[in-house]
Amino acid sequence: MRKVIIIGAGLAGCYLATQLQNTCDVTIVTKKSIQDSNSMLAQGGIAASLDPGDSPAQHAADTLAAGQYHNKPAAVNQLVATGPKLIQHLIQDGMAFDRQSNGQLDFGLEGAHSHHRILHANGDRTGAALTSFVQGEIHQVHWKPYSTAIDLQVQDNVCVGVIIRNDKNQALETLTSDAVVLATGGLGNLFPLTTNNQTITGDGIAIAARAGAAISDMAFVQFHPTLLSLHGKCYGLITEAIRGSGAILVDENNHRIMANVPKKDLAPRDVVARHLKAWQEQGHQLFLDISAILDFTTRFPGVTENLDNHHVPFRTTHRIPIQPGAHFVMGGITTDLSAQTSIPHLFAIGEVACNGVHGANRLASNSLLDCLVSAKKAAEAIQKIDAVTIIPQDTPAAPQPKPLLPSLTDLQQNAWQNLGVVRTKAGLTAFQNWLSQFNYQELQPSQLNATDLAITNLCLCASLIDKAALAEPKSLGAHYIQETTVKTQAG
Ligand code: SIN
Repeated sequence: MRKVIIIGAGLAGCYLATQLQNTCDVTIVTKKSIQDSNSMLAQGGIAASLDPGDSPAQHAADTLAAGQYHNKPAAVNQLVATGPKLIQHLIQDGMAFDRQSNGQLDFGLEGAHSHHRILHANGDRTGAALTSFVQGEIHQVHWKPYSTAIDLQVQDNVCVGVIIRNDKNQALETLTSDAVVLATGGLGNLFPLTTNNQTITGDGIAIAARAGAAISDMAFVQFHPTLLSLHGKCYGLITEAIRGSGAILVDENNHRIMANVPKKDLAPRDVVARHLKAWQEQGHQLFLDISAILDFTTRFPGVTENLDNHHVPFRTTHRIPIQPGAHFVMGGITTDLSAQTSIPHLFAIGEVACNGVHGANRLASNSLLDCLVSAKKAAEAIQKIDAVTIIPQDTPAAPQPKPLLPSLTDLQQNAWQNLGVVRTKAGLTAFQNWLSQFNYQELQPSQLNATDLAITNLCLCASLIDKAALAEPKSLGAHYIQETTVKTQAG
């Protein structure tokens, strides 16, 4: 039986496990519990052209337009054609998506979709419902929770396994395999405000990059306009579906911020995020006015619970305090349509991968769909790979230099100012210089504690974003570059 190691227990990793568990010896490694993933937090839904008036071609057209035609058309076609079939299989297996009172699937609308095609489950808890359902379908895999992937094992340019660390007793373990699949999500915690789970620190991109895998499109990071923001901190996503249902963005004077912009509050996310940032920089506060949504608490139970947990008086004010923050990275480990990376026997699926499907800006609710499709394609490819011959090798540990790293707060602040919603060439150059004083590229991950490892991985991702952004001198999609003054803090 082929041995397959999946790193990450979100939707992509778990769906892949369901596809391989009967034919392969599958191990899932995950950094914390199986509840800790971005998939579990996804509120928006999953896009699929299952409505009779819709079509894969229209879904593809919307995906390409949102991605500014920087997408790979073959990847987009694969997504929109394969996705609906996988969703139908999940429904046949018992996955309960929300339905109208007549029993028909209830298709919602989000920004930049030309058709109602977003499926939800449990209202705004789609990611949790879908990921839990898929996890419930896993019957025969080995679980390694509370374990961090540290480094890939590569012999003669073939991936033969991975070194992991048990975070409870700090023991290192080398797992050998015929295929390693990275499904670790993105890098949201590079930024001070993010929708991402706290475990998401760019690990997959960093370990693949250190092993020499090709990485692409790192300039493109999507900032979501509406994160619940209290006292300068973020407490989770306020789903775009709320704007899709009629909520509007206002300031403290009830001035409608997006009134004069094409598509108004449902303009592309990068456009909305930039308007909000500019308005905030003029000294205004930002709110989502939900007074048009009469049944808010029943339609958005997850957001309601979060607001109540943080004592937000939205029932009387009809306003939610928001700010833009990091949401999703379109770039990542370069893969082909079968999720194969540039290193044989190393695969990447979901957000950590860059298969070209999202282009320069991801269309809302396409990411859960890509998790399913990229996992399905990886499963098909892994069933066909040859077994790997592993030659035991003792690599003596090189002496570790003393880590010279920024604090996480300094890294996040500098990344927000220079790699954030609005970038400048001068800021990108200054950030590169600031980063160059640290020795994150010389450190051996296996000898770092968990905090330093996370910062090391985030520094590496930050430098990849910075270099990619400098190489894209023109604005495109989520990468917006403007010539203004340098904003790097003293480091
Ligand atoms: C949202 O619910 O606003 C996010 C959905 C997504 O990013 O796909």
